[in-house]
Amino acid sequence: KAMVARGRSFIGTAVTLRDPPDNKEAAIYSNKADFNSITPENAQKWESIEPQRNQFTFADADRHVDFAVDNGLQIHCHNLVWHSQLPDWVTNGNFDNATLISIMKNHITKLAGRYKGKCTRWDVVNEALNEDGTYRESVFYNTTGEAYLPLAFKFASEVDPNAQLYYNDYNLESGGAKAKGAQRIVQLIQSYGVKINGVGLQAHLSSEVTPTSPSPAPDQATLENTLRMYTSQGVDVAYTEIDVRMNTPPTPAKLKKQADVYETVARSCLAVKRCVGMTTWGVSDKYSWIPETFEGEGAALMWNKKYKKKPAYFGFLKGIKQG
Ligand code: G3I
Repeated sequence: KAMVARGRSFIGTAVTLRDPPDNKEAAIYSNKADFNSITPENAQKWESIEPQRNQFTFADADRHVDFAVDNGLQIHCHNLVWHSQLPDWVTNGNFDNATLISIMKNHITKLAGRYKGKCTRWDVVNEALNEDGTYRESVFYNTTGEAYLPLAFKFASEVDPNAQLYYNDYNLESGGAKAKGAQRIVQLIQSYGVKINGVGLQAHLSSEVTPTSPSPAPDQATLENTLRMYTSQGVDVAYTEIDVRMNTPPTPAKLKKQADVYETVARSCLAVKRCVGMTTWGVSDKYSWIPETFEGEGAALMWNKKYKKKPAYFGFLKGIKQG
């Protein structure tokens, strides 16, 4: 609510509807004072939606979208084209260029078409860049070249003209070579006369040096400069997957540092007019992807494993209210 009171659009979180349900977790992300948007964490990814060619399985994604619609929440739909969680039939299909484009078009048309009018935003292309700003050698890039990006945005805009279309990536926040790569992508898509509405900065950050993060989160001025690199191109920006990891276990001092990073991120968004919203990558540390992927790191979200609010929650709120 504080975010909307500041004239911005949303505060969201990634959601996975558990089986069996976790009512304590659900009570947190269903609290409308805190959240008005969700991003389905995995349910709309290619391997979930089209595990075999032209065989679509929408049940899990439907559940997530229905949950949001029933609760009056925005949906940040995630995602249409990504090299990861991509089924083997696409990655190793050895399709020629025309065939792969038709596969991509079919996937986008069926997926974005099914949720037409319900997705506030779509991550159209996810993580197309290497750290040095060059294109990642995905099957899409290797087969079609950079033209796959404007093509994906074109197909998405034709299917759901009212959805806001985003390019989404991680490690953009510091404004280095990779961030410039994303700037180039925005320019590329615009040069084709195709619609792109925003850049999503995932913001998988850390509050201290960890084995997988050589430097802690950038300071506020750096974050703001990076956001402005994109807004000066005439597009919106959003933080789309915020979490702030540390070496576990957490201590009070580390949790304070983490709260400061959450506050700084919020302040940077509020300082830039076209920063339309922020999404955290889950609510409780119980389910965060980080400990599974980066051993010995975690405690990255705003609620602890026992569903208790951490200092990070209050830091984030302070940044939204005062930033
Ligand atoms: O669904 C299967 C299940 O059937 C199987 O029994 C189980 C055994 O490992 O795996 C389940 O799949 C897991 C899936 O999450 C659903 O829970 C995958 O192993 C696991 O790798 C996958 O992780 C997700 C990851 O993306 C995959 O790349 C995380 O939950 C999700 O938080 C993470 O999110 C990504 C964003 O989409 C893009 N940006 C980075 C971010 C963090 O990696």
